[in-house]
Amino acid sequence: MADKGLRGRLLFFPLPLQGHVTPMLQLAEIFYSKGFSITIIHTKYNSPNPSSYPNFTFLPISDGLSEKETSELSIFALASILNVNCLEPFKDCLTGLLSEESEVHTTCLISDTVLHFTREVAESFKLPRFVLRTSGVGVFRAFAAIPLLREKGYLPIQASRLEEPVPELPPLRVKDLPVINVPNAEMFYQLIAGLVNEAKTSSGVIFNSFEELEQSAVAAVRQEFPAPIFPVGPFHQYFPSASSSLVQPDETSISWLDKQAPKSVIYVSFGSIAAVKENEFLEIAWGLANCNHPFLWVIRPGSIHGSQHLESLPGGFLDMLGERGHIVKWAPQLEVLAHPAVGAFWTHNGWNSTLESICAGVPMICMPCFTDQFVIARYVIHVWKVGVQLGNGLERKTIVEVIRKLMEDEEGEEIRNRVVDFKQKANFSLRPGGSSYETLESLISCISSS
Ligand code: UDX
Repeated sequence: MADKGLRGRLLFFPLPLQGHVTPMLQLAEIFYSKGFSITIIHTKYNSPNPSSYPNFTFLPISDGLSEKETSELSIFALASILNVNCLEPFKDCLTGLLSEESEVHTTCLISDTVLHFTREVAESFKLPRFVLRTSGVGVFRAFAAIPLLREKGYLPIQASRLEEPVPELPPLRVKDLPVINVPNAEMFYQLIAGLVNEAKTSSGVIFNSFEELEQSAVAAVRQEFPAPIFPVGPFHQYFPSASSSLVQPDETSISWLDKQAPKSVIYVSFGSIAAVKENEFLEIAWGLANCNHPFLWVIRPGSIHGSQHLESLPGGFLDMLGERGHIVKWAPQLEVLAHPAVGAFWTHNGWNSTLESICAGVPMICMPCFTDQFVIARYVIHVWKVGVQLGNGLERKTIVEVIRKLMEDEEGEEIRNRVVDFKQKANFSLRPGGSSYETLESLISCISSS
C-alpha cells in the first residue's frame, strides 16, 4: 500500500442520497488504499458520519434546503434545487481549499453526475473533474438515448406500446425505459440531460460495475461516448468498508437470521426511496404470509404511501406469523445478503441492491419501481437470468407462485446456479488480470497525469 497522501489529494462530492453516498464513500476508500489523501465535500442534508472514516477530511457546505423541502419534495426536485443552491458555497469551499498552504497537491474532483454545477466551478479553478455514475452502464446508455427516444415517439410512454421492443436499445422494451411518473416530466428530462452532459464533458466517467457483467453496454458506450469510461466495481467487494449507512441498521436482523435454515429466507427490501401503495403493501404482507418461507422484511418509515409505519398491517398479522417473519426499519444489507440463511432477495432493483445481490450469489425477485430500476430488472431477468419478475399487478397469489418458482422449482435452480457464476466473475474482476483491477490501474494513471 502506498503512503497515504503521497499521490495527492482527491476531492469527492456525493449527491446526498443513500444510493449515491454509499458508492462514493466506497470509491473514496479504494483511492485512499492506493495512496491518495481524501476530502469529502458534502451538503448538510443527509451528511455522512465522519467518525466512520477517521482518515478522511469532511467539509460540510450549506445547501439552503428547508426542512419542508427535504421532507416533501421528490428526489428530482431536490436534486434540481441543490444544483442551484450549492453553486456559491461550493465555489467558496474550493477557494479556501485551493488557496490553503498544503504539502499535498489537489489532483482532481470526483463528483456525482447529478451535481451539474460542479462542472462550471471546477472549470473556473482549472481543476480536472471526473464523475461517478452510481447506476449501471446499460442504464447510462438508456439515459443518453432519451432525446432520441422522445424524437422517435417512444416517450412519453403510451399504454398501448408497453410490450414493443426498442430496437435502438436492445434488450429493452418500451415498458423498460428509464422514466418516472412525475407531474413535471420536463424537469426530469432536463436533469437526465444534464447528467449525461456532465459525463460527456468530464475527464472520465467512473462506474460501479464490471465488464464481465455489462460487456456489450460497456463496449457500446466506449464507442459512442467522448469521455473515457472506467467500470471499476463492484466497489463494496474491495475490502470490508466502514458503514456508509445514513440510518442505524437493526442488528436483530442477523440474530434472527442465525436461527433460520440455510437458503430458506426471503429478504425483502426496496432501498431508501421507493414506496408502495397501501393495497400493494397488503398484498406483499399476505403473499409473504402465505408462501411458507421465513422472511426478513425492511419496512422503512415513509415507505407506504399515505400510511404511518406498520398501521396498515392486518390486525393480528404479526402474532399469527410468530417467529417466521421478522420486520425491521433498516437492515445491515450487506451482512444480510452474505448470511447463509438467505435464499432470495425481493428487491426494487436499485443498482446498489442489485450489485450487492449478485456479489453475494443471491437470486432476485424483481419489483422495479422507477427510472433506472426498470432497465436493471430487464437485465437481471432477460440478460443475466439471475432473477424472476413479479407478474403484472401485485397479487398475493402471484407472489406465492413467484417465490416458489425461484426457491423450490427446477427453473429456479438454474437461476440460483447462474447467480453464483456471476458472483465468481465479480470476484475475478478485482484480481490482478481481472477487468476492474486493470481499469482501476488505468484510472489511477489518468488521474495522476491529469
Ligand atoms: C437510488 C435509486 O433509487 C436507485 O434506482 C439508483 O440505482 C441508486 O439510487 P435506492 O433506491 O436507495 O437508490 O436503492 P439502491 O441503489 O439499492 O441503494 C440502497 C442502498 O441502501 C444499498 O447499498 C443497500 O445496501 C442499502 N440498504 C438498503 C441498507 O443498508 N439497508 C436497508 O435496509 C436497505
